[in-house]
Amino acid sequence: MTAFARKNGATPDTGTPHRARHLPHMWEIGIDSAIQQVTNARVPGEWRFCVAPMMDWTDRHCRYFFRLISKRVRLYTEMITAPALAHGDVPRHLDFDPAEHPVALQLGGCDPGELAHAARLGERWGYDEINLNCGCPSERVQTGSFGACLMAEPKLVADCVRAMRDAVGVPVTVKHRIGLDAMDDYAFVRDFVGVVAGAGCEVFIVHARNAVLKGLSPKENREIPPLRYDVVRRLKRDFPTLTIVLNGGLDGWDAIERELAFVDGAMLGRAAYHDPYLLAEADRRLFGDTAPAPSRAGVMAALLPYASAQIAGGASLRGITRHILGLYHGVRGGRHFRRLLSDAARLRDADTSLLVDALRAVQ
Ligand SMILES: Cc1cc2nc3c(=O)[nH]c(=O)nc-3n(C[C@H](O)[C@H](O)[C@H](O)COP(=O)(O)O)c2cc1C
Repeated sequence: MTAFARKNGATPDTGTPHRARHLPHMWEIGIDSAIQQVTNARVPGEWRFCVAPMMDWTDRHCRYFFRLISKRVRLYTEMITAPALAHGDVPRHLDFDPAEHPVALQLGGCDPGELAHAARLGERWGYDEINLNCGCPSERVQTGSFGACLMAEPKLVADCVRAMRDAVGVPVTVKHRIGLDAMDDYAFVRDFVGVVAGAGCEVFIVHARNAVLKGLSPKENREIPPLRYDVVRRLKRDFPTLTIVLNGGLDGWDAIERELAFVDGAMLGRAAYHDPYLLAEADRRLFGDTAPAPSRAGVMAALLPYASAQIAGGASLRGITRHILGLYHGVRGGRHFRRLLSDAARLRDADTSLLVDALRAVQ
């Protein structure tokens, strides 16, 4: 057994379909190599480039739009709470377009049974991954005792992960911070990762900042606690067989490529939302694709039939256009494009010719 697995008391578990797929002939090749195969087999770059879960931003329209720009980036839903799936309108929360794959469902919650139920629903709906939010510092989330405050309870997180892994065959992953409040002791995050990995989590998305639970708003919590990429790099060194994805403050290709030399993946949030065409480079730079990137105009053209179909199905035009305002970010005519697409009267008319006009304006 590998040192990592021994340290975490991990036992090879063939009980879920996901593991079973990756553990052929374990009796022949030995447990060490079988575990190695799990890690190696899954990766080649699945988490290499991800767009972050962002509440109110990465809804299904936004994800569909991102997918028109990159075929390969991994997309995450906004956080959906396990109680909302237990008691709410499940199709409204979970429906998505098949074009969005690979797409992960992010869950919020702290009850293993409830999370297992939510994960099962997510898998049934076709999500490629179930991610547990252990990084959100909002008051509302703290009231529910989940999000970032779960980092203080690694054993509970491990129980949640175990319950979800028992329930589904797709990977169960965790997104978390590097510390809580003023605590900047590396041992805290190292032990968190160690305990949760012991429950079988193999992919950790690390927002390289502490979460400050009292006194900072969620927005301030994304800006004020200092970024510490060294901590994330160190996690990768200490847990070489885990997939470690770095998140926080990555604002362009220089930063992405620099950090990818040390970790397995990069996750972008705000930069991808405000300048989505940044994603256009991903398929060639990181995934070796040779097809040319779609042009901005090509993206707009591909969005039109989607927008028409969605509006015919009852969606609002603004619900789609609000996510695409940054498509021409930094390009001549970009401001005009933005202004046109924000025209309240025309948005009310819900006529997709607004998209055509906005495209003409930048050409
Ligand atoms: C509007 C907004 C909503 C967010 N909602 C979530 C969320 O639902 N779940 C989550 O784990 N993180 C959420 N985050 C945090 C991001 O996923 C990410 O960790 C953070 O923005 C840092 O990455 P960035 O610097 O690339 O933006 C949100 C961020 C923003 C800006």
